[in-house]
Amino acid sequence: MLWWQAILLKLLNTLPKYLCDMEMIAVQERIPCLDLKGQHQQIKREVFEAFEKVYENTAFSGGPFVEEFEQGFAAFCGTKYAVGVNNGTSALHLAMLALGIGPGDEVIVPANTFIATAWGVSYTGATPVFVDCTSDTWQLDTTKIEDKITSNTKAIVGVHLYGQPFNIEAVAAVCKKYKLFMLEDGAQAQGARYKGIPVGGFGEMACFSFYPGKNLGACGEAGGVTTNNEAYYKHLLSLRNHGSVVRYYHNEVGYNMRMGGLESASLNVKLKYITAWNNRRRAIAKQYQQQITSPKIQLQVQPDWVESVYHLFVVTTADRDGLLKYLNEKSIFPGLHYPVPCHLQKAYAHLGYKEGDCPNAEYLANHCLSLPMYAELKDEDVAYVIETLNRY
Ligand SMILES: Cc1ncc(COP(=O)(O)O)c(C=O)c1O
Repeated sequence: MLWWQAILLKLLNTLPKYLCDMEMIAVQERIPCLDLKGQHQQIKREVFEAFEKVYENTAFSGGPFVEEFEQGFAAFCGTKYAVGVNNGTSALHLAMLALGIGPGDEVIVPANTFIATAWGVSYTGATPVFVDCTSDTWQLDTTKIEDKITSNTKAIVGVHLYGQPFNIEAVAAVCKKYKLFMLEDGAQAQGARYKGIPVGGFGEMACFSFYPGKNLGACGEAGGVTTNNEAYYKHLLSLRNHGSVVRYYHNEVGYNMRMGGLESASLNVKLKYITAWNNRRRAIAKQYQQQITSPKIQLQVQPDWVESVYHLFVVTTADRDGLLKYLNEKSIFPGLHYPVPCHLQKAYAHLGYKEGDCPNAEYLANHCLSLPMYAELKDEDVAYVIETLNRY
């Protein structure tokens, strides 16, 4: 064989590998933390038909489609009532008002949550009191609550963060002991179960967000409150509608926080699919849990009695920036939930918290990242994320 023939042969031999690598690059092109396009393409026709009905009925604010969603969502959560509102932050605000919480009151809130959990408290004039999370489940550390209870404490908000139910029985026990209200923030956890029971009916009320990126997300902004208590239910209906039950008669200062018709119509369609979508998220999470073997990556600990819906799949690692850079180079783009814990946010500087007050929440903020997680994530992408992490 001539020298140039040998070189040509070698080149030809490496071509399949090169093409294969190109294929990997094509797959790798973009694996984001969340991609809403796949879901919305799948159900586009159904959602547009639902929008058309809203349009024909001019039922743009409140109305029959919102009522349909309220009944469907209450059934989904196994609660007597659900009240649709304009977003999850309003749901928290109205739930606080329905409990009668206001200036001078204190409400226990996890330091490790999205800030809106605390906004609901602050909007009423009450003060959020932040409690650290545990170092393994990353949920409210129930052993640290009692130290924070004062004569002004009125309620505890537990958050089913990342889609994983918090330790409901332990929080309920503290509430019972000190005669406090318990609220669930289920914004990230539609369909999650605690000891086999869906979240949403454990506290006085549970607050949900249907922000587009949530497991059950509207085509627009939306939220809701579930409850088994008729008095709270009726009060919420009034509060969200200018403090009015009979039109133009206002019994109290109320709010315009109604759910939109188009949003509710999209939710009515999605409610049919949410269980299948949650199951797909569970299957992806199982692969992550079973196959991520890198000692550099720590996963969230899950007690046996919780069934998460994996709104987020959060992991921690010592050198978060290093891992992010490495993953980005491999075309994987994790999210970051959340970079600053609530007690250290500037908005709450006046409360006087300092670094070290909630060490586990602070550790998470500095070391967490959220792996790609959405129902439409392809099996080969999941495998690629796992393989890439294990090679780190
Ligand atoms: C834990 C938690 N609580 C409350 C909210 C607020 O919901 P929304 O964005 O619909 O106001 C969110 C949404 O991001 C959340 O994740």
